[in-house]
Amino acid sequence: MKAVIVVFSPSGNTERVGKLLKTSLEQNSIGAELINIAGKEKYFLTKYTQSFLQEIVNEHDILFIGSPVYAHHLQYHVKDLIESLPRPMDGWGKIAVPFVTYGGIHSGIALDEAGKLLRKSGRKVLAGLKVSSSHHMTRAFMKEEYNKNPDEDKLISIIEDLVQLVKSVDLNSTKDYSNHLRYQSVKTYLKAKVIFKEKVWHEKRYPKVLIDYNKCIQCGKCVSVCPVCHLEQDLDSLIVKNINTQCIHCFNCIFECPQKAISPMGDLEKAKIFMENMIKKAKEHPDTCLYPTT
Ligand SMILES: Cc1cc2nc3c(=O)[nH]c(=O)nc-3n(C[C@H](O)[C@H](O)[C@H](O)COP(=O)(O)O)c2cc1C
Ligand code: SF4
Ligand code: SF4
Repeated sequence: MKAVIVVFSPSGNTERVGKLLKTSLEQNSIGAELINIAGKEKYFLTKYTQSFLQEIVNEHDILFIGSPVYAHHLQYHVKDLIESLPRPMDGWGKIAVPFVTYGGIHSGIALDEAGKLLRKSGRKVLAGLKVSSSHHMTRAFMKEEYNKNPDEDKLISIIEDLVQLVKSVDLNSTKDYSNHLRYQSVKTYLKAKVIFKEKVWHEKRYPKVLIDYNKCIQCGKCVSVCPVCHLEQDLDSLIVKNINTQCIHCFNCIFECPQKAISPMGDLEKAKIFMENMIKKAKEHPDTCLYPTT
C-alpha cells in the first residue's frame, strides 16, 4: 500500500503531524510521501493548481490531507486544494483521511468541511483526526504562546491507531465515514458560518503586517517564511507585497525578522482581549481525537 500526505502548514504544526504519520506508516511497511505546499510559488502564484498537484503527487492508494484550523474553518487554501484534486483514478487513490491542527482554542468545523469536500471529490473518507497544537499567533499579543506543549505521546498513540485502521482496510470495499466528522454542536456550526467568516476576517479583523523600511536590512528571511508567497523582493531587493496572493496572518514574517522590522498593525489591545476571552472559553474535549470514535 502507498500513502501520500499533502499538507498546508504555514507555521509547522500540521507538517509535524504529517511527519509523525509518515514515520508510523513506514514502520508499518506502508510507503509514504509527505508534501507541504506552503511557500510553493508554482501553487500560489499560478492558476494551474491541478497540474501542479499532478506533477508532485505520486501514485498512491490513500491520500491524507492536513490543514490548520483558521477562525473555526478549514484554512481556505486547503479547501481550494481539495477542490483542485483530480478524480480518484489513474494512480489517485479512492480513500482519503483529513487531519487538522488547531491552537487549542476551538477546532470549529474544519474536519467536517474537509471530509465533505473529500467525499465530493469522489473519495471515501476512512477517518479524520483533529490535533490540539500550539497557537503560534498568540505570541504576538500574549506573554506566552498558548498551548505551547501539547501531549505528544497521546498524539503518537492516536496516530498509531489510525495507521492500524489504514492497515486493516480493504481498499476496494471500504465505507465512507465522512458523516462521523460532524462532532460539533449545531451552535458551533451557526457560529462558524455566521460569525467566523475567515476570508472577511483576514481582510477586516486580523492586524495587517507593517514593514519598517528604516529597520529592514533586505535579508529576505520574511520572503522565505511566507507560506503564501505574499512577500517578495523587487529588483532593488526591497520587500513588496504581491497583491495576487493575500496575507493569511500566520505572523511568520513578524516572528522571524531578525531586525524586528515587521509588526502587526491595528488595535492590538483589542486583539489581545479578544484572544484572552477565547482562551478563557476554550474547553474542547477530547482535545485530540480520531473519528469515528470507537
Ligand atoms: C489566522 C489564524 C487563525 C486561527 N484560528 C484558530 C481557531 O479558530 N481556533 C484555534 O484553536 N486555533 C486557531 N489558530 C491556530 C492554528 O490553528 C494552529 O496554531 C495550527 O496548528 C497552525 O498550523 P500550522 O502550524 O501547520 O500552520 C489560528 C491561527 C491563525 C494564524
Ligand atoms: S526579514 Fe526583516 S530585515 Fe529581513 S528582509 Fe524581511 S523585513 Fe527586512
Ligand atoms: S505576509 Fe507575513 S503574516 Fe502574511 S502570510 Fe506572509 S508571512 Fe504570514
